[in-house]
Amino acid sequence: VNDNMKDLLNRPLRDLRISVIDRCNFRCSYCMPAEIFGEDYAFLPKEELLSFEELERLAKAFVSLGVEKIRLTGGEPLLRKDLHLLIERLVHIDGLHDIALTTNGIYLPRYALALKNAGLKRVNISLDSLNDELFGQMNGRNVRTNPVKKGIEAAKNAGLGVKINMVVKKGLNESEIIPMAKFCLEENIELRFIEYMDVGSTNGWKLDEVVSKKAIIDLLKTEFELMEAEPDYYGEVAKKYLYKDTSTYVGFITSVTESFCSSCTRSRISADGKLYTCLFNGKGHDLKHFIRNGVTDQEVLNYIKGVWQKRADRYSDLRTEETSRSKSKIEMSYIGG
Ligand code: GTP
Ligand code: 5AD
Ligand code: SF4
Ligand code: SF4
Repeated sequence: VNDNMKDLLNRPLRDLRISVIDRCNFRCSYCMPAEIFGEDYAFLPKEELLSFEELERLAKAFVSLGVEKIRLTGGEPLLRKDLHLLIERLVHIDGLHDIALTTNGIYLPRYALALKNAGLKRVNISLDSLNDELFGQMNGRNVRTNPVKKGIEAAKNAGLGVKINMVVKKGLNESEIIPMAKFCLEENIELRFIEYMDVGSTNGWKLDEVVSKKAIIDLLKTEFELMEAEPDYYGEVAKKYLYKDTSTYVGFITSVTESFCSSCTRSRISADGKLYTCLFNGKGHDLKHFIRNGVTDQEVLNYIKGVWQKRADRYSDLRTEETSRSKSKIEMSYIGG
């Protein structure tokens, strides 16, 4: 069935990232700057969000077209009420091998066990600094590091796999690179350093604020010996290394300096049910309207197939200061990264 599920650049459809809510309890400057996402910002009203039933139906369609991995994102996905009930629906889908969640971790002490019991396998938790003051400034809400550390502990204790994501921005948190690396090595957690990206059009991205993988590695090499590791599967986003003589990985997400579009197998659904074929392509394909108007499963399938087969996105291969200023990009909080 999936032989013809390649896009125009010969990439198969393998992953689905589902944003379950566009709200967040944080206001990270690189994602939802507080000046723009303020009191009167118009978030999606509840009735616009896809229901769990609708998401399950779409997920089944995507899996039958080749998707093996689903990631739930936000905003902050744990702000979506009863998220574990969605996971319960998704785990039973035949052919789906991996369900993961990307979160800021704050609500994990409350929900980790329920998520694990529902069938969630792993979580990626964002943490940009171990310094309370700097972290409070970066998350825009003055939240200290301890609540996130508690979330990490809760996830581990529940038996969930844990990785940590750290966005590095020049002049802001480079001083945290070594401390974060040490912390994660001690905890035996895979840390991924993320190059600051020009997602959306509200974060005021500038190329010279990006800290490259190379710069980070040069710094790490002053303290650690790293050995290049093989990817776990085709199209894995992070480039991974092992700390010598350990079983702990460290990864780099290099959208800016070493783009990975040529093996990009990812599709995304926004919380209001639009299908996007690239993190930087603002053209959404309205699945919600479609499924709320009584179409058959076969029609849904054909529609998604048609969109994928016409896909030619490779934004990160082509990025310049000029493309970064395009107003037609989608916000990170809306599409979940
Ligand atoms: P794993 O399945 O654990 O490897 O997770 P992941 O790295 O695919 O997902 P996660 O949500 O943890 O994202 C980490 C970072 O990678 C975020 O900054 C994402 O925006 C970024 N990212 C993920 N997929 C893509 C992609 O297709 N293109 C670009 N440019 N960035 C991506
Ligand atoms: N550049 C790179 N990564 C970002 N994230 C959010 N905004 C950006 C950006 N502008 C990260 C978050 C989270 C992941 C889903 O995306 O820190 O770890
Ligand atoms: Fe919220 Fe994550 Fe965006 Fe920060 S990066 S504002 S935690 S969605
Ligand atoms: Fe995929 Fe677009 Fe990211 Fe390239 S920029 S890896 S095409 S989502």
